[in-house]
Amino acid sequence: MERNIVEDILKLKKEKNAIILAHYYQPGEVQDLADFVGDSYYLSEIAKDCKEDVVVLCGVKFMAESAKILSPKKTVLMSCENAGCPMADMANEEELVKLKEKYPNAYVVCYINSTAKVKAHCDVSVTSSSALNILKNIPNKEVLFLPDKNLGQYIAEAFPKKEFILWDGYCKYHNKIEKSAILDLKDKYKDAQILVHPECVKEVRELGDYVGSTSGIIDFATKSSAKDFIIATEEGVLHQLKKKNPNKNFHIPGGRICCEDMKKTTLEGLYDTLLNMKNEMILDEDIREKAFISLENMHKLAK
Ligand code: 13P
Ligand code: SF4
Repeated sequence: MERNIVEDILKLKKEKNAIILAHYYQPGEVQDLADFVGDSYYLSEIAKDCKEDVVVLCGVKFMAESAKILSPKKTVLMSCENAGCPMADMANEEELVKLKEKYPNAYVVCYINSTAKVKAHCDVSVTSSSALNILKNIPNKEVLFLPDKNLGQYIAEAFPKKEFILWDGYCKYHNKIEKSAILDLKDKYKDAQILVHPECVKEVRELGDYVGSTSGIIDFATKSSAKDFIIATEEGVLHQLKKKNPNKNFHIPGGRICCEDMKKTTLEGLYDTLLNMKNEMILDEDIREKAFISLENMHKLAK
């Protein structure tokens, strides 16, 4: 009899009392078998509140770290080895500590796309879907934001009375989406709406009919009466966009935007991870406790 890998994974999942969480940038077949699919904020909430003993995070390292920070008693497994976020690795604690000394009055805000070591030095974490709500609840005039300068600039534009000190980081995929590629598509599909992730550069964000997180982009397109959409984010979102909107058309500027690390998860790898309880996320308890404060504040201040 031919092997059905999806059934094998689901069987193992039951045996191990595990839950599978997947980000919208994951391969379609991984999204389809996950218990929950979502943006970074949603996945962090599920990881915090779920009752299962084992959390398998299909995404990149900072997502598994966040799950472990929030749920230290659970076994958190990364769906595959070595799936990192190059942007998260652009910030480091040594430079952050120096910057904090230079700006002692600044509230320190990190994008959730940062390492646990960096989070341990921050007052609050934000995601693209929660950042604006969280910033409303921060009284300080000075805000030190890291690592994404594009998301930081987007937030700074919404709070002109605050002073932002921005780290020089970026997502190598979103940062290279070009205005001209979007305008080329707009020329072809004149009624298309342009939906942009805030990790994109300013001149791309300015073209957006909507700017927001992966879940925001999916919701906006689903509610819209337009037929064509230009999607300025990683192409993994197309899976849910097409499932939810079979009669609409989605166009990626330049043809492809593919995060290599997000595509490292395979069904075979996921099966192996669960079978052998591999790729467990282990954190130093001192770092975890400190990083917990920034994620706990994220959930409190986002409300
Ligand atoms: P969101 O899903 O929170 O919009 O994040 C996008 C991202 O870059 C994750 O790596
Ligand atoms: Fe990091 Fe960009 Fe990949 Fe998201 S898409 S995981 S920000 S490199």
